[in-house]
Amino acid sequence: MKKRILTGITTTGIPHIGNYIGAIRPAIKLATETDESFFFLADYHSIIKNKNPSEIKSSVKNIALAWLCCGLDPEKTLFYKQSDVPEILELTWILNCVSSKGLMNRAHAYKAAISENELEPDKGINMGLFSYPILMAADILMFDSTHVPVGSDQIQHMEMTRDIAQRFNHLYKSILTVPESIIQDKEKVVPGIDGRKMSKSYNNVIPLLGTEKELKKSIMKIVTNSLEPGEPKDTDNCSVYELYKNFADEDEVNEFKKSYEEGIAWGEAKELLFSKINKELEPIRSSYNELVNNNDYINDVLSDGSKKARQIAEDKMSQIRDVIGITKIS
Ligand code: TRP
Repeated sequence: MKKRILTGITTTGIPHIGNYIGAIRPAIKLATETDESFFFLADYHSIIKNKNPSEIKSSVKNIALAWLCCGLDPEKTLFYKQSDVPEILELTWILNCVSSKGLMNRAHAYKAAISENELEPDKGINMGLFSYPILMAADILMFDSTHVPVGSDQIQHMEMTRDIAQRFNHLYKSILTVPESIIQDKEKVVPGIDGRKMSKSYNNVIPLLGTEKELKKSIMKIVTNSLEPGEPKDTDNCSVYELYKNFADEDEVNEFKKSYEEGIAWGEAKELLFSKINKELEPIRSSYNELVNNNDYINDVLSDGSKKARQIAEDKMSQIRDVIGITKIS
């Protein structure tokens, strides 16, 4: 069977090195190795939490740029915005009607949100958050995706998608493809500059699309212990070392490890880390500088992608409407 990979990127925040290592780089590599790939900006997912239109807008642009500059080839990968394929929302409703509420009650994101409330469990929770997994299922099932690269935090959503597809197939007709997950960040946590997982919510990120100066500045801010130059250092639980591993080959990593044993100064270790990361980001940065003021190009790429995606979605929707009885009177 032909492999069709599809993945969505929620458009919140600015892209950072953690996104690059955990999602962007492996997904682009996968796309070059796979026959068919669909990558889209999940902008309708982003309005669940973010009600600031200008933030949404700039995030969509920056995230689109990040993927394009990191090597996504729009000739090979269908790259589109979720909101440009309105059929996805149509399918969302249909899937709502086959998804059990109990299944949604068990979603981690929803459970985490209600657990923070004391007296009134559903306080501040909108229906979008509650039915988030159904929109995600529609994203995936619309295109008969066979494989979905995601982070490990999405495993439950993928299980739900499979569940919903199977339920639909059982109730009506087996026309939805039940997808497999490809977990991209297996056990791999990218540390931020404070040593915790790199995340926008911890304010500890190293930005992906910043200038060389900004990159250096955030690398120099990485928290280390206070061992002096000359004192041997441990690579375990060391953010500088963990980050280095993601940008260097095996020999280089061994050498880096040796320099720890020999008591490299933190400043020097960070310099080495900086030059490694910087070397990999240089071409990305230069393509960013070229594209950042070329909104027409970005819009054209996305509109091209959505035209192709819509064609597929329209065909699928007419098949789906047909099997559920929403069809011509006859
Ligand atoms: N929920 C995913 C995340 O937060 C983003 C997403 C939305 C997605 N729709 C998708 C991922 C479809 C894969 C397939 O990472």
